[in-house]
Amino acid sequence: MRALLLKALVLSLLFTAAAAFSAPGEAADVNEHWRRPLETGGSVHAEDLYPEKCGLCHRDQYNDWKNALHSKSTGPGLLAQLHPLKDPQTAVSCYFCHAPLKTQNEELLGENASGEAVFLPNSSYDERLKLSGVNCAACHVRSSGVAGPPLSMPPARKQNIKAEHDSVQNVFFEEAEFCAACHQLDNGYELNGRILVNTYEEWKESEYAKNKITCQSCHMPGRRHLFRGVHDQEMVKGGLSFDLQSTDNPESVKATLKITNSGVGHFFPTYVTPLVVISGFLTDSKGNALKGTLMEAQIGRKVTLDLETELFDTRIPPFRSFEFNYEMKRVEKAGQLVLEVRVYPDEFYQRFFESALKKQDPDMKHKELREALRTTSESSYLLFRKVVELR
Ligand code: HEC
Ligand code: HEC
Ligand code: HEC
Ligand code: HEC
Ligand code: HEC
Repeated sequence: MRALLLKALVLSLLFTAAAAFSAPGEAADVNEHWRRPLETGGSVHAEDLYPEKCGLCHRDQYNDWKNALHSKSTGPGLLAQLHPLKDPQTAVSCYFCHAPLKTQNEELLGENASGEAVFLPNSSYDERLKLSGVNCAACHVRSSGVAGPPLSMPPARKQNIKAEHDSVQNVFFEEAEFCAACHQLDNGYELNGRILVNTYEEWKESEYAKNKITCQSCHMPGRRHLFRGVHDQEMVKGGLSFDLQSTDNPESVKATLKITNSGVGHFFPTYVTPLVVISGFLTDSKGNALKGTLMEAQIGRKVTLDLETELFDTRIPPFRSFEFNYEMKRVEKAGQLVLEVRVYPDEFYQRFFESALKKQDPDMKHKELREALRTTSESSYLLFRKVVELR
């Protein structure tokens, strides 16, 4: 492992106490890096951890991160469900991934006078920091200082750089295990024999793991902090290939749309939350859909809102395909066959928020719920559309 320490050329304005930084070469492993709650050290003020501060110098990383979902992980969808003071246990369990720094927690597990484990107010809590979600510090700052991947710049250029802070280089920043800290659940969270969030394991069993194509290779190309996923049409397009074969005669119309997971490093999609709907239908010569000619199929792992029952799992493992077979008696007016693939990145959450609003669930904050529902119901997009002229 390359464990270099960057020389701090300028006195640290950022982190007042130099003692907060570890000695060069100190080995840390990825599990230690992610032991919750994440400590950033008593001498570091919460405001020095605001992403806007880091962004003063690391502008590219900041702009990318700000547009990515990690910066929105403490949005209305999460906040609607939490009562951090009344029910700190639930809040802490969600913050584990959505706001993992110690200073992002209102309360923390401690001990009362008689030695019992109880939740106690956290004096280092900072609301603004909580609202910045999975921020720079969550991944890069610990009591031992700032940590990052092995330096990418040639040594000659580095000498001209004035760092406000030291940094420790850890190879695990370049490894898939780094992301597994939040994108993989342990055994015990199975549904129908398969773990509910299994992204890392799906990747590990694939060719990508063997060829050292990591999560970062695809989600942080050139170390950019893009973290694009199922919400991004171009990202999804890049991971799939489509093959359409069709035949028609005066009696019938037949088509097969083969969708191959040609570039997604795990199942497509990996989570239970998105749903992909494929539809085929006939239209008249003006493009109006003809009644009774619609056929649909769904790709996803659909589960009930209580997460107790799996309705189906039709996700596509890496390098495998899903086939949609369309077959319809030819109606007289039929002029075209249309095939469409629509992605609903938040199908599960949309259902969940709708149901909570309908039930007037007293355990939820309704203003936030409505806001969350608006976002989730606007996130769908048309991924693929092909029109075949019938003979
Ligand atoms: C005043 C400017 C400044 C501020 C503020 C600042 N940094 Fe840096 N940081 C630098 C410079 C300069 C370097 C060294 C050049 C490089 O490798 O990018 C550096 C290096 C790093 C590295 C190491 C890069 C590597 O390849 O190992 C990480 C990670 C990092 N900073 C994260 C942060 C985070 C997180 C914050 C906010 C808590 C922050 N920085 C605030 C200037 C700053
Ligand atoms: C501290 C926990 C944490 C770590 C570490 C983490 N993530 Fe995430 N990630 C999240 C959370 C929480 C979300 C969901 C944010 C939201 O939408 O509220 C997310 C969202 C994403 C998304 C967007 C998914 C979508 O629906 O479009 C991608 C892609 C992603 N992460 C990739 C990565 C990669 C790659 C790594 C490793 C370099 C990583 N994440 C590390 C917690 C984490
Ligand atoms: C193991 C890490 C992990 C834990 C623990 C976790 N989440 Fe998430 N959560 C994620 C990831 C990753 C996503 C994004 C992928 C997706 O859409 O499912 C997400 C997405 C969400 C979303 C949709 C996006 C948004 O921000 O509106 C909500 C709502 C949510 N989680 C709520 C919760 C609640 C409530 C808890 C605690 C009961 C919780 N999560 C615990 C990782 C986690
Ligand atoms: C979800 C975790 C995560 C978050 C959030 C995150 N980073 Fe990173 N960062 C990484 C990883 C992983 C790498 C290394 C990527 C690689 O090697 O491919 C990295 C690399 C870096 C580097 C080195 C870049 C280079 O070209 O060598 C800097 C600097 C940095 N991050 C700063 C930031 C700043 C500033 C923020 C907030 C605006 C931030 N990071 C947010 C995970 C994260
Ligand atoms: C070979 C490229 C590749 C690799 C490797 C890869 N991904 Fe992805 N990932 C994608 C593409 C393309 C998408 C968009 C399609 C989709 O949603 O599945 C995606 C989507 C996602 C999503 C969105 C949620 C969802 O349901 O799909 C998350 C979260 C994610 N990846 C995390 C990870 C993590 C964590 C790793 C490493 C363990 C990883 N990815 C490895 C290409 C990759």
